[in-house]
Amino acid sequence: MSGRDGDDRGAQHKAIERAVSDYYTGKLRAFGATPGGVDWKDAGSQELRFSQLRRVFDGNGGSLIDYGCGYGGLLGFLRNSGWTGRYLGIDLSAAMIEAARAHCANWQDARFLQAAAPDETADYAVASGIFNVRLDVSKEAWHGYMMDVLANMNQNASRGFAFNCLTSYSDHDKMREDLFYAEPLFLFDFCKKNFSRNVALLHDYGLYEFTIIVRKHV
Ligand SMILES: C[S@@+](CC[C@H](N)C(=O)[O-])C[C@H]1O[C@@H](n2cnc3c(N)ncnc32)[C@H](O)[C@@H]1O
Repeated sequence: MSGRDGDDRGAQHKAIERAVSDYYTGKLRAFGATPGGVDWKDAGSQELRFSQLRRVFDGNGGSLIDYGCGYGGLLGFLRNSGWTGRYLGIDLSAAMIEAARAHCANWQDARFLQAAAPDETADYAVASGIFNVRLDVSKEAWHGYMMDVLANMNQNASRGFAFNCLTSYSDHDKMREDLFYAEPLFLFDFCKKNFSRNVALLHDYGLYEFTIIVRKHV
């Protein structure tokens, strides 16, 4: 990639991040620090996603970066299930980070940062819901953006990472133009070839989406 191409891509990503941040800030303003405020239908589906992502952990410790943490729903879910590790939540939206700090004020060993990338590394990284809403960004540009975020997660998580995406196996009459439906088999193959030999594809939990777990240690 020439320097000029890299600059163009960087500028495009910044524009995507601004649009995505505005979109979720709007949801938070409308629905508050609730599943609706991060654009989920209900708490049940939000927690079902968390329980899939949680499978990346070996046990109840270690450190975690939560990409697109929203108001910090995952932290409460993990603490309530006995996870005692160090947590860093990052989010593009400043309002979301403010809401997360208030919502999670009573949890220990947790920090929130408004950023697209973390300021430290961790054992694990997860991302729930950050690849779904592409607004009016082209599918090609969104795909490139997603690949860069995955590379960043891989770089910052030494033991493994996990993420979810809407699936291209969704019913066609229900698919929306502003959402991104990823190819599960492509991403499985990509993660195997680029990140680790130990990759799981979970596509058996009843939502129109899938989770990929990349384990660097078994
Ligand atoms: C669908 S919401 C899910 C929030 C949270 N993960 C949950 O499940 O409760 C996605 C969140 O990720 C944030 N976000 C989207 N793309 C991001 C990115 N590339 N980096 C950091 N945050 C991002 C949005 O601002 C939003 O708060």
